[in-house]
Amino acid sequence: MNRTQSNKKPARGIFLSILYVFTLFTMVLTGFGQMPIYKRYYLADIPGMTWLADFYITRYIHYIGAMVLLALITYAVLNYLLLNRNNRRLTGYGYASAFLMAGIIITGLLFTVKNLPGFFFSSGFVHVINLGHMGFAVLFLATSIYALVFRKNGRPAGKL
Ligand code: HEM
Repeated sequence: MNRTQSNKKPARGIFLSILYVFTLFTMVLTGFGQMPIYKRYYLADIPGMTWLADFYITRYIHYIGAMVLLALITYAVLNYLLLNRNNRRLTGYGYASAFLMAGIIITGLLFTVKNLPGFFFSSGFVHVINLGHMGFAVLFLATSIYALVFRKNGRPAGKL
């Protein structure tokens, strides 16, 4: 295999990247549907977008997206730990986004437990996870946009 061929991203990698971006988009869209803002700001009045104002629809899609996101992240972490650890290093941006994503997942799981019957969290703690989940999500979005604009990567150049 020559250098050009070995640097090509395999089809599986491209598929997983597209699935990851699509899942993130879905999580942001349905996450903000929980607040709820789409009816208030007339986005749900756009033809074909009425479902955005349906709290239960966006909630169930958020849960399905969370399952896909957790599966993708588990795959990436296991792949890193078991197969690629010596060939890959994370940049500062990579560590920052991993930390923020961990915050989103931990607070999201706490939210999910809170919504199960038989679990009771104090209103103060619910406020903390609420602000935490949204805060981590907004910071994650901000760092992702920064990385996109300034072409930052989670891995240093040449360490694919
Ligand atoms: C990039 C990923 C994610 C983003 C951007 C995101 C964003 C959001 C936002 C903005 C909210 C609304 C918070 C509020 O009502 O103030 C929300 C709600 C929620 N999220 Fe996420 N989220 C993400 C991942 C997850 C994951 C992985 C889980 C579960 C493991 C999860 C579970 C929940 C639950 C259960 C709620 C509803 C909370 C409630 O009102 O009871 N989220 N999400």
